[in-house]
Amino acid sequence: MDKIVIEGGLPLEGEIKISGAKNGALPIIAATLLCPGTHIIHNVPDLRDIRTILQLMETFGITWEKADTNTLAINSDNVSSFEASYDLVKTMRASVLVLGPLLARLGQARVSLPGGCAIGARPIDFHMQGLQKLGAQLELEQGYVDAKVNGTLRGNAVYFDIPSVTGTENILMAAVLAEGETVIKNAAREPEIANLIDMLTRMGAKIEGRNTDRLVVRGVKKLVPAEIEIIPDRIETGTFLVAVGAAGGDVNLTNCDPALLPSLFDKLRNTGLYLKEDKNSIRVIRSGPLKSVDIKTMPYPGFPTDLQAQMMALMTLTEGLSVIHENIFENRFMHVAELKRMGADIRVDGGRAIVKGHGKLNGAQVMATDLRASASLVIAGLAAQGITEVSRVYHLDRGYDDIVGKLSAVGAKIWREKE
Ligand code: EPU
Repeated sequence: MDKIVIEGGLPLEGEIKISGAKNGALPIIAATLLCPGTHIIHNVPDLRDIRTILQLMETFGITWEKADTNTLAINSDNVSSFEASYDLVKTMRASVLVLGPLLARLGQARVSLPGGCAIGARPIDFHMQGLQKLGAQLELEQGYVDAKVNGTLRGNAVYFDIPSVTGTENILMAAVLAEGETVIKNAAREPEIANLIDMLTRMGAKIEGRNTDRLVVRGVKKLVPAEIEIIPDRIETGTFLVAVGAAGGDVNLTNCDPALLPSLFDKLRNTGLYLKEDKNSIRVIRSGPLKSVDIKTMPYPGFPTDLQAQMMALMTLTEGLSVIHENIFENRFMHVAELKRMGADIRVDGGRAIVKGHGKLNGAQVMATDLRASASLVIAGLAAQGITEVSRVYHLDRGYDDIVGKLSAVGAKIWREKE
């Protein structure tokens, strides 16, 4: 297993190209199960989660090839199997995204229940209730969700108690081939859902309400293969902005979309960073000391939970007090204990973390617990005095396309080593 070693204290200077969004690519790859033919997907990031979903798709009978470095051609002429095994689902919860499309295409699906993970219990009850509303019969058997439909799915109203990103995506993918109209109320509004809606629309689906919390789907009889571009990864973008905040310097992020991060820019400007947004790029400069800000994670367009850990690392470097509320996942403070090993002063009180900034961190050996926690430890390592070693790097490889290469290119002293 690899670890990442960082010699902290160097400012970052130069340009970083942002990759396509992991959470945009995963549902779009799953959507190719909906109809036969060859689908073309551009701007796919090179990540372990992408390899995992492709491996899962192969078990259903799809074939794929890379048309170029970041373009996938996925052929789904032969989809015969419908079981997503525990072995693959346990390594990536987003595997549950195949439930809706398999049910719509084959009338049945058997998908392992994902179980808990490092950031919370993360049930899939909304996905299951929504599919039942569309007429599927669901049973839980030996850790698997067994889903069947007699005839075809039928449109209905589906309401989410809490807007769920993959829940909304699953119901959308099931509803596009259902008979009649489905209305999804309190739908999630993350930009990756709009990306999926664009793909489904190109496939011939009829969907209204893009970017709103009320989606109306009028089922169609047949879909056709489509071509789509994955949107830039807003969480990767935010991670590098915060990294420059922590390490200092002047970096231009390219191939990104500043419009996808409405809540982050105000926060970062309030910490004292200079940000200049263009249509597809953002320049970030930190020249002075950092100021503390408070954060509350919320569904989009609120502050993303996927940037909470990174912001916490930044807040340890201020000279003030910051209160961070995590409102999406109940256990997403696993990075706190690791940041404390680097000298941070953080107290967790239920869903709230109180960070007392000391203006500095010290390098230490730390352990990555999940994807975004790993990113926060890398950010802390860039700013810390001395050497930081982050073990269990496979978490980072799940969701960051060449983070070590990208940071090295802007002057960070960061490298991988065998543990
Ligand atoms: N929830 C339920 N029941 C459900 C579904 C969700 O109670 O059936 C709850 C969750 O426990 C959570 C809230 O609803 O409290 C929202 O969870 P959501 O369903 O939106 O999360 P998700 O779809 O499982 C996606 C991203 C996550 C991201 C969250 C929140 C993908 C593949 N994953 O997860 O990304 O944190 O939305 O924005 O899109 C990551 O990339 O590191 C990551 C964890």
